[in-house]
Amino acid sequence: MFVTERPLTPTFPRDLFAAIDDLKRELNAVILAHYYQDPDIQDVADYIGDSLGLSRKAAETNAETIVFAGVHFMAETAKILNPDKRVLLPDLEAGCSLADSCPPEEFAAFKAAHPNHVVVSYINCTAAIKAMSDIICTSSNAVDIVNQIPPEQPIIFAPDRNLGRYVMQQTGRDMVLWSGSCMVHENFSEKKIIQLQVEHPEAETIAHPECEEAVLRHARFVGSTTALLKYARHSEKRSFIVATESGIIHQMQKQIPDKAFIPAPPIANCACNECPHMRLNTMEKLYLAMKNGTPEITLPEDIRIAALAPIQRMLAASS
Ligand code: 13P
Ligand code: SF4
Repeated sequence: MFVTERPLTPTFPRDLFAAIDDLKRELNAVILAHYYQDPDIQDVADYIGDSLGLSRKAAETNAETIVFAGVHFMAETAKILNPDKRVLLPDLEAGCSLADSCPPEEFAAFKAAHPNHVVVSYINCTAAIKAMSDIICTSSNAVDIVNQIPPEQPIIFAPDRNLGRYVMQQTGRDMVLWSGSCMVHENFSEKKIIQLQVEHPEAETIAHPECEEAVLRHARFVGSTTALLKYARHSEKRSFIVATESGIIHQMQKQIPDKAFIPAPPIANCACNECPHMRLNTMEKLYLAMKNGTPEITLPEDIRIAALAPIQRMLAASS
């Protein structure tokens, strides 16, 4: 008689929140989550923030294990800053279209074609790109960082052309842009946003600088995810059209329950204002990662050391 082997399916505790909390204590772990994560993950996290806030938390944590509920480049940044700590990412496939739009060999050739340029790279890039950069920035400090570079110094800005163009407008600097973009932020429909503005004349439109210029043109305020949250809290307006990944709306509703938030619609009739990479992480995968101690982020030491210096320069320049 043959016995059919079935793949082992993991069993999950009934109360995943409680189980994850127990594991946190057992492992002396901290859960850092980005605003684009599923609401449950945001609720179980110890800290939620934008890329700069998350990097700062990763740099200063005393926890032995960092569980990164975000995408690969974020967890990788935490590992670059903490080589002796274990950094877990619930799903190793959680990448980033923007980071992928800048392959290291092509970028090395681009850099070589522009000698004497300082390389400012947006944190949404791989460790290999960070290692080729002079300074890293995030959407919350990009304008400041570029303003600190002497005016006569030519600059390469990579990999997001939309953030790069926005920084050029804000600083008046000319920069050589790498032509990368984010699949979520380039997908918002200008036409549908204008329609929403007509339907909700009382609402203020706020947008992330990764959006296309045609969308940013209609925004009253442009900023990082944390800056959008802060703006919505302090604005006199009661409702907002929000042009960034829709996960932030959970945090906006939670922190500012007396105001209304309308997600900006993508061009197609799809859920394309959700980042498919960010959303690969689930509560189940978070639980399993902590229970099994895997998937863990590792990277070659020479790349880590080369990528560390430009991140540290950013942290020092934006403290
Ligand atoms: P911030 O949270 O830094 O604004 O970045 C948004 C983003 O696209 C992260 O992938
Ligand atoms: Fe990357 Fe865009 Fe997803 Fe952010 S929202 S992780 S930039 S693909």
